[in-house]
Amino acid sequence: MEQKITSLREQFTLALNNAASAAALEALRVEYLGKKGLLAELMQSLRTLSGDEKKQAGQLINTLKNEVDGLVRAAAETLQKEEQKRQINSAKRYDVTLPERTEHGSYHPISLVQREVERIFVTMGFTVEEYPEVVDDYHCFEALNIPKHHPARDMQDTYYLSNGQLLKTHTSAAQNAIMRKYGAPLRVIFPGRCFRNESTDACHENTFFQMEGIMIDRDISIANLIYFMKTMLSEVFQRDVKVRLRPGFFPFVEPGFELDISCLNCGGVGCPSCKNSGWLELCPCGMIHPRVLEMGGIDPDEYTGFAFGLGLTRLAMMRYGVKDIRDFNSGNLKALAQFTQ
Ligand code: PHE
Repeated sequence: MEQKITSLREQFTLALNNAASAAALEALRVEYLGKKGLLAELMQSLRTLSGDEKKQAGQLINTLKNEVDGLVRAAAETLQKEEQKRQINSAKRYDVTLPERTEHGSYHPISLVQREVERIFVTMGFTVEEYPEVVDDYHCFEALNIPKHHPARDMQDTYYLSNGQLLKTHTSAAQNAIMRKYGAPLRVIFPGRCFRNESTDACHENTFFQMEGIMIDRDISIANLIYFMKTMLSEVFQRDVKVRLRPGFFPFVEPGFELDISCLNCGGVGCPSCKNSGWLELCPCGMIHPRVLEMGGIDPDEYTGFAFGLGLTRLAMMRYGVKDIRDFNSGNLKALAQFTQ
C-alpha cells in the first residue's frame, strides 16, 4: 500500500510539472481529488486491509490528498498571476501624440448664430441668462401686462401641461424674474427655445428660438435701443446695416416697434426677397411698459429701459440662406455639417 501511495505521489508531481494551463490544472485536480478520482479509488481499496494497516494507510492517503490539494491551488495561483502580467504587457497602448479623429459632429446653425450674438452683446456689457422652457401663466403673460382673456393671447396659444404650467411662447417670459434677480440698472440677454400652436410651413414652426434683451437704467431712450440693435446687426452681418422702426403693438412695451433692416440682398433698392420694399422685418422691440417695470420691482419714475425679441431662427435663416425653417429640425447631419466653424 505504502508503495502505491509513494508512486502515486511521484506520478502526480510529474503531471503537475506538465500542467501548463488552468484547464490542465483543473483536469489534474479532478483526476486525483474528484469523487471517482485516483485518491478516492485508493481509499476504496483500504476495505481489504486489516485494522492497523487500514488506519496507517488511511493517514498516508489523507496526507497525500492535502498535499495534492495545496499544490494544485498554488500552481493555479501562479498561473493566474502570470496571465495577468501577460495581459498587462500586451495591453493596447495609446499614443497620446496622435492627431485627433476628424469625423466629429458639428454645431447647429442656430447655436452658431446664438453664440455670435451672445459674444457681441457680452462685449457691450450684457450678461447672458438662462430661463426654463416650462413656465407659469404669470411669467409668460400676466407679468407682461397681458391679463387673462386679453386678445394678445390669441397669437400665443401654446402647449399647456395638466398642472397649469405651459411651454413658453416667447423669451419675454423671463423678463420679470430677471428684473427681480438683478434690479436696476441691468443689461441682460436671454436666449431660449419657444413654442406656439402653429400650422407649420416654410416660415412657421411650432418650436423656434429667440434672443431677448433688456437694458434698464436712468435715461434710457429709443436712441439707445436703435444704437444697440444697429451695432449688433452690423456685426452679425459684417456690414453696415440700416435700421428703421415702425409702430408695433405688444402690451409689455410702450411705445412698441417692429424693427426692419435694409434688405441684405439688394441693399435697399427692392428685390423679390424683400417684396420690393427694400426692408426686412427682423426684430420686435420697444420701451418697457412702466407697469412691467413695476411688477419687476423697479421704480418706473426713476428708471426706463428697452426690450427686444430677436428671432434667432429667423436670423439663422437669413445668415445662412436657409429657405425652409423645417430644415433646422430635419436631423440631416450632412446638411448641418456645412455650417461647422
Ligand atoms: N415677445 C414678443 C414676441 O415674441 C417680442 C417682443 C420682445 C416685443 C420684446 C417687444 C419687446 O412676440
